[in-house]
Amino acid sequence: MKAAEIPRIYIPPCSCLHRMSRDEGEQKRTGNEAGRAAVQRPKGTRDFLPADMEKRRWLETNFRKTAGLFGFREVATPAFEHVELFTLRSGPQIIEDMYDFRDKGGRHLALRPELTAPTMRLFIEGMTGDPKPLKLFYFGNCFRYEQPQKGRYREFWQFGAEILGAKRVAGEVELLCLADACLKASGLKRYVLRIGHVGVLRNVLEDAGVPAGKQAPLMPIIDKGDHDHLKAALEDLGADCGHVMDVLGSHGGREILSNVPGSGLGEVLDGLASAGVGGYVIEPGIARGLDYYTGMVFEADVPDLGAEKQVLGGGTYALSEVLGGERIESTGFAIGFDRVLVALDAQEVPIPRSRLDYYLIPMGPSERPLALEALAALRRSGLSADIDISDRNLSKALKYASSSGAQNAVIIGESERTSGNLTVRNLASGQQRPARLEDLLKR
Ligand code: HAM
Repeated sequence: MKAAEIPRIYIPPCSCLHRMSRDEGEQKRTGNEAGRAAVQRPKGTRDFLPADMEKRRWLETNFRKTAGLFGFREVATPAFEHVELFTLRSGPQIIEDMYDFRDKGGRHLALRPELTAPTMRLFIEGMTGDPKPLKLFYFGNCFRYEQPQKGRYREFWQFGAEILGAKRVAGEVELLCLADACLKASGLKRYVLRIGHVGVLRNVLEDAGVPAGKQAPLMPIIDKGDHDHLKAALEDLGADCGHVMDVLGSHGGREILSNVPGSGLGEVLDGLASAGVGGYVIEPGIARGLDYYTGMVFEADVPDLGAEKQVLGGGTYALSEVLGGERIESTGFAIGFDRVLVALDAQEVPIPRSRLDYYLIPMGPSERPLALEALAALRRSGLSADIDISDRNLSKALKYASSSGAQNAVIIGESERTSGNLTVRNLASGQQRPARLEDLLKR
């Protein structure tokens, strides 16, 4: 760059700085503080540092692999959608729990609070002609305007799957098998899979004298298992409280649910037995928070977690026709990805770290060309390798290499340069050995 091309930077004369008034200084500080507050991450969101991301990618890879083994194919949808996608089924009150906004064109949009409705929209817009059943999976961030706490965030990730257009029972069995396989693949030591049926639950309420139109407010109460509150609500409606409480409190939930004609639950349970999935419990009181469910519903809890112990939720639902598509059998689930990670931590499940194979330490400028050559060769042969670019002394470079998780350091000093024998130090044991680059490449 010629001198004439060097951009001019205005440096105020010292006197100018000295003359800055106390008020101006004060203002500047306040401005900086305001700036700092504005650049902090928003409430309910998280940053993920490299060690966090390694764990997250490990879990994501396990889920993806499992879905692939079951023949599911991945889809992705936008982070924001027209708000109606979510309000058409759930009503405008759901906006309170979402991030909604107007864009510059005046469109009313929302950050997706979940991925079932977007996946159904994707199906209606682009996949109705495809051979059925469709077995789709997704992994993406969701946004809910909630009061944050451990395991409950405003931005969180869901890994989920949907089967569209299958025979109902067979689809439910396949989906439950995938859900269980994903939970197993995550390494969780303890979890409880609970299966219910909202169709049967609604019939029970109807038989007890609560018509369909009056059932919605009862569902969250049933879901919470708050029986005192439920009794009071049923009495207010003049319903037969005893019958409902018998079903919800019964230990014979399996008989009640699976023997109801048309529920298909008995066949689903037979299918699970054949597929070797056991260890679940039948619970008539699962009502699910989202109101598109029509049939079999299920959840998984991790008892080690506190209030936010539900790590998975799903079931059979009707959404296509609400969104303007044709009726189609649909069943799905979503795993709370972040909660599974919290649970793995609580259960002290070790997550393998990805380790750098070699950290190269050239001892001086004369050794750098050889080190760069070796670095490129290692990387070309598929070994992960990094190099000291801070000109630290040996002990500091070794310390850095250990803390960054490298398995071996390769020390290249004058004698290594002249002999061609590199010094390889195992960073866990501290043992050193000479090795030629060709040998490292072979290994
Ligand atoms: P959901 O039960 O609302 O179902 O969410 C699924 C899972 O996402 C929950 O079990 C929980 O683990 C996790 N989750 C929910 N909210 C939060 C949050 N604020 N922070 C962290 N994790 C959270 C659905 O979303 C349905 N779309 C599932 C489905 C798929 N049904 C049929 N297909």
